[in-house]
Amino acid sequence: MNPLAKELNDVLAGSLAAELLSDYGKRMYFPKGIISQSAEAKQKAHTYNATIGIATEKGTAMCIPSVFAEFKGDLSRDDVFPYAPTAGEMALRKIWLEEMIRKNPSMVGKKTSIPAVTGGLTHSISIAASLFLDKGESIIVPDMYWGNYNLVFTEQREAKQVSFPLFADGKLNIDGLAKTIDSIEGAHVAMILNFPNNPTGYTPTISEAKALVAMLVSKADQGKKMLVFTDDAYFGLFFEEDVCRESLFALLCDAHENILAIKGDAATKEEMVWGFRVGFLTYNAKGMTESQYEALVKKTMGAIRGSVSSCSKPAQSILLKGMKSKTYHQEKAAGVAEIEKRYKLMKQVLSTYAGNPYLTPLPFNSGYFMSFVCAGDAEKLRLHLLDTYGVGTISIKNAFLRLAFSSTDMDEIEDLVRIVYKAAQELFA
Ligand SMILES: Cc1ncc(COP(=O)(O)O)c(C=O)c1O
Repeated sequence: MNPLAKELNDVLAGSLAAELLSDYGKRMYFPKGIISQSAEAKQKAHTYNATIGIATEKGTAMCIPSVFAEFKGDLSRDDVFPYAPTAGEMALRKIWLEEMIRKNPSMVGKKTSIPAVTGGLTHSISIAASLFLDKGESIIVPDMYWGNYNLVFTEQREAKQVSFPLFADGKLNIDGLAKTIDSIEGAHVAMILNFPNNPTGYTPTISEAKALVAMLVSKADQGKKMLVFTDDAYFGLFFEEDVCRESLFALLCDAHENILAIKGDAATKEEMVWGFRVGFLTYNAKGMTESQYEALVKKTMGAIRGSVSSCSKPAQSILLKGMKSKTYHQEKAAGVAEIEKRYKLMKQVLSTYAGNPYLTPLPFNSGYFMSFVCAGDAEKLRLHLLDTYGVGTISIKNAFLRLAFSSTDMDEIEDLVRIVYKAAQELFA
């Protein structure tokens, strides 16, 4: 093992994170190579700095003017062209954490790591999986989940996805999750929970969230050592009064020594910058010290360095400037309000089809999507909608059909729903 990995493991010794690390996670370290020598030179090289692996002139990044001309606003060449630090721009990491605490009041006064920037939430999930999941280990995933988990957990990590029904009697299936936790052999239990959920558009209500946290804490009390990864891709898109508006991560912060909470979130949907590829990874476990959080971030940086090396600099600079703008909160709220209007209309239109025998909406109260349980083959329905009506939808496991109200304009929703029900009747009647 590299001595630097051993150093980090020594710092982490005794923590839950150390116990849950995968083999790769244990071996991971951040090399004291070019990056840290360059950082040292930045501070001390007063005469010449011949360390940096970019091209500069008079101390600023060289560039092709035609490329730079596409960057409007007040971005400098150095905001756009150099590499970003491995864990991301510190100013962006700090503002992301400040915003996280502002949106999640349960986090006030609780220590977490400083969020590390990744190349999007998929990258956050992939890095966390590499650091904490070994081949053959289990990870609990609700039956309604984002299909890309298969590539990360099953194919990349060769882990075993253990499933449970997300709903029981139209409510969050907390009991099902509890039983699934009990069914995992040994003390270590990993899970990923995604709210607002893709594909259902469901977020626990306030009382469900409380019960979920209480259940997880009771399992921790019983000696289960849990990694709870919260996939917060659609955080903030909450459309009903009784919906829990805080991340499960926030509710689990400092909840128990046996719970390592990992928040995967991203600017992707939260800031409507899908193609920017800026995500974050944040850690919390009760009792972890600042130096242990730093060691965990160093391991995360090793995983970033060894995969994408560093994440997009212009995306981070643009995002940071945008988030610091005086009108940022107001503009963001306007975007959320527009999606909420579509959600409300979707609910209203669907209510006129209540009791329809062919399509039954699953509970939804947030996010981008709603899904139907189909009375027949959902893939056949998807193809029928596409070929006969030119309507694009997503079929899942041949049983569910997902509609994105996030990408359907107000004046299209009623007609979209009409066509979907008509097509379902044509196929399933
Ligand atoms: C539940 C969920 N998690 C993660 C992601 C990935 O986000 P990103 O584009 O930031 O990688 C998505 C994107 O569709 C998603 O639906």
